[in-house]
Amino acid sequence: MITSLNELKELADKKKCASGNSRQELRVCMGSSCISLGSAELGKSLQDELQNRDLEDKYKIKNVGCNGLCANGTLVSHCRGDGSTLYEKITTSDTKDLVESIQNGGLLKDKMCDITQPFFTKQTKIVLENTGIIDPDDIEDYIAHGGYEALFKALDGMMPKDVIEEVKTSALRGRGGGGYPAGIKWESVSKVVSEQKYIICNGDEGDPGAFMDRAVMESDPHRVLEGMAIAGYACGANKGYIYVRAEYPLAVEKLGRAIKQATKLGILGENIAHSNFSFNIEIRLGAGAFVCGEATALIASVEGNRGNPRQKPPHLTDYGLWGKPTVLNNVETLANIAPIIKNGGAWYRDIGTENSSGTKVFALTGHIKNTGLVEVPMGTTLRELIYEIGGGIPDGKKFKAIQSGGPSGGCIPKELLDLHVDYESLKNAGSIMGSGGLIVIDDSSNMVEIARFFMDFCRSESCGKCTPCRVGTTELTLLLDKFIKKEATKSDFELLKEMCEFVKSTSLCGLGQTAPNPVLSTIKYFESEYLEGINDD
Ligand SMILES: Cc1cc2nc3c(=O)[nH]c(=O)nc-3n(C[C@H](O)[C@H](O)[C@H](O)COP(=O)(O)O)c2cc1C
Ligand code: SF4
Ligand code: FES
Repeated sequence: MITSLNELKELADKKKCASGNSRQELRVCMGSSCISLGSAELGKSLQDELQNRDLEDKYKIKNVGCNGLCANGTLVSHCRGDGSTLYEKITTSDTKDLVESIQNGGLLKDKMCDITQPFFTKQTKIVLENTGIIDPDDIEDYIAHGGYEALFKALDGMMPKDVIEEVKTSALRGRGGGGYPAGIKWESVSKVVSEQKYIICNGDEGDPGAFMDRAVMESDPHRVLEGMAIAGYACGANKGYIYVRAEYPLAVEKLGRAIKQATKLGILGENIAHSNFSFNIEIRLGAGAFVCGEATALIASVEGNRGNPRQKPPHLTDYGLWGKPTVLNNVETLANIAPIIKNGGAWYRDIGTENSSGTKVFALTGHIKNTGLVEVPMGTTLRELIYEIGGGIPDGKKFKAIQSGGPSGGCIPKELLDLHVDYESLKNAGSIMGSGGLIVIDDSSNMVEIARFFMDFCRSESCGKCTPCRVGTTELTLLLDKFIKKEATKSDFELLKEMCEFVKSTSLCGLGQTAPNPVLSTIKYFESEYLEGINDD
């Protein structure tokens, strides 16, 4: 049991000392993407090779989470006392060569990953600082990397209102899409007098192309638990739930193990660090409905009901889970909390832009060389993200647009490549930050088809509770089909625009209110592709 900041630091030192004296590490990426490439088999074959060569005393296989550069998986990092070497595209056929080269003190040159490329040098890692480094199954590894220090610092010498003040100073905005200031949300809940309050972590992540939250939950689950516990202390809540989709079995497994380990060490549970503060966390599984990521639908689902949204107000801060005051925060929002408490809100506020502080994690997908996970300061330009960090467009094609914000977002054309990515600039450009999926689109793509893809997604994910969304998304999908088949009329084009405005302004929840955005933004920037679908003869 750990009962004080000093004891936590002692454990961290002990673990660091043990690692320092012991074997060199071969860190094998066990993120979902690398697992699908065979990293579990690779880890086993490396272990066997070490055993065959009687090298187990000298080298240790360590399973780590996503390294970021998923396109070049499986990534293996060889860490020695004097530095480390990153290897890419490693398969079981490289096992013998890799082990032989490190045994001989050499390098497997044709498999080395260039860590001086912009993909690595242009990132600023706060949320992802531990991913690819620590073993997510080992709480002591998290603690050795400064984990749970922020929670114990808060419990040791900060009043709940000081914690809220620090989060307010950081100007951290919710990373789930809306960008609502986290500190203000916490303050609202802290001010409500209630015997029972809740903290909920939103790990639903239903947007096509998004996998940021999954990677954080899989690679650094304790960081999420720590953020939730700090939120509980600040707001006066003693119970937390993590809502995570069942299609993320690895994330569910890692979070479940992390909760058990933290509870065993007394970091979660009753009277943490001999204080009056108790906090327990449970996992709730979602069944993969996109709408269940919406705040009120999520609450209904956690309560065991069908995940239908309801009218707001009342807001969750007053009337949330089982009618009690509730803080709902996204995974990435909560993963930012520990560094903010440790380093101070002002430190965080200095990163990013005036209205959007800190960093943002993006999942880079689509027609881009370096598909994977990146974290950059707010204000980084789209050009830097696509051409420097992302490595540009593959197969000699040209960049056409980027889709941000998932089905609620929009498409931004090449003319806006120098846009600085933050909440306001993306909104002004007709898109949204969303949770962080960035889908790069090359010049072989038809933008009406892209818009149709997202509309059809919203059609199938609509809960059907209100008519404008249920009927409107179906009608819009059918209308878009006419443009794709080049059978639309001029009046269809007018109807398309009118119906988009109607669905936006009359739908009950965010799903319907934002479903037309991909259509409206493609009309704004790629109108000619709609006009090509009109055949009035
Ligand atoms: C249809 C829909 C789906 C959503 N899905 C998610 C999601 O998967 N994850 C998430 O954090 N927020 C999602 N949101 C936003 C949440 O309603 C809520 O604003 C967010 O979880 C609050 O956390 P934050 O303040 O930390 O961003 C969704 C909203 C809508 C309308
Ligand atoms: S807008 Fe769509 S998803 Fe939201 S309540 Fe209405 S039908 Fe359901
Ligand atoms: S899962 Fe291995 S690098 Fe992303």
